[in-house]
Amino acid sequence: MVLNKLKPRRHRYAILLLSCTILMCVYFENSWKLLTQKYHVSEHIACVACAPKRKGTEWFFARYAPTVHLLLNSSNSMLSKDVSSWWTRLQKVKRNANYTTVVRNLFPLFPDQDPNRCRTCAVVGNSGNLLGSRYGPLIDSKDCVMRINKGPTEGFEEDVGSNTTHRILYPESVMDLDNSTHLVFFPFKILDIEWLISAFTTKDINETYMNVPSTINANKDKVMILHPEFMKYVHKNWTQFHGRYPSSGFLTVIFALHICDEVHVFGFGATKDGNWHHYFDKTLTPVANESHSGDIEYETIIRLHREKNLLMYKGWT
Ligand code: C5P
Repeated sequence: MVLNKLKPRRHRYAILLLSCTILMCVYFENSWKLLTQKYHVSEHIACVACAPKRKGTEWFFARYAPTVHLLLNSSNSMLSKDVSSWWTRLQKVKRNANYTTVVRNLFPLFPDQDPNRCRTCAVVGNSGNLLGSRYGPLIDSKDCVMRINKGPTEGFEEDVGSNTTHRILYPESVMDLDNSTHLVFFPFKILDIEWLISAFTTKDINETYMNVPSTINANKDKVMILHPEFMKYVHKNWTQFHGRYPSSGFLTVIFALHICDEVHVFGFGATKDGNWHHYFDKTLTPVANESHSGDIEYETIIRLHREKNLLMYKGWT
């Protein structure tokens, strides 16, 4: 009798114990998930916020400034006096437009962008030394592929690859982009910023110092706008005031040093026989011109290569 009475009670204890165990498992599993998720999220945020921890010599760290503003956004668009006066002097065509007023219309239109980190990057310049290089698969193997101005891929895939994640453009070099590519816009003057706004709204600016397209096919939500402070920083720290301002190619190399863990540089410099031209046309691209000091830029890239801050592929040996 007593035994029979005890049995259901034992069952009840067993069921209670089992339920407790299941509840504890569920609780701990959720806490574990929460913990690992939190860790994952904070790790991600830390990655986006900080520049890659670069190694380098004294020469490198005398130039590299990890905290410089890379991209213009709604909270950092005010320019210091120093940056403003240097950047305003770049304009060939005098404009009455006021920078602060123009920029006010920029960020309701384009979402603020974080300069997303890339693990490996290919920066692809437009030098004729790419022809016959067969760098295509190597370039495409990188997480981010940054192309500059009108450098095409179609018809040149073997040598230059076919992926593009970032396209560096300004009004005089625009081309249409697919929906997944970041338009990295380099504003060299106030009119460039006005053009960018117009290209995505009224489409009524079709002239700068030359005729330019009045619009562009590109994903508005992927537009990144280079900060004038960054241009001035490259001019001061990296080309050390040589030339009037750095070329779009050199700016892209330094930009990549700030957002990529590993930088691979293709399509910069002369061909094996000393010619400076594009891989896609016969336009001669003199090493230095009235605006840029291409020789200093080239020497600096070579030095960065020697000091193992990036890898430079010349296309010839
Ligand atoms: O000619 P373009 O300005 O479109 O080329 C993009 C960049 O590629 C240049 O700013 C320059 O840095 C690089 N380039 C080069 N050698 C060439 C042509 C272009 O280093 N022959």
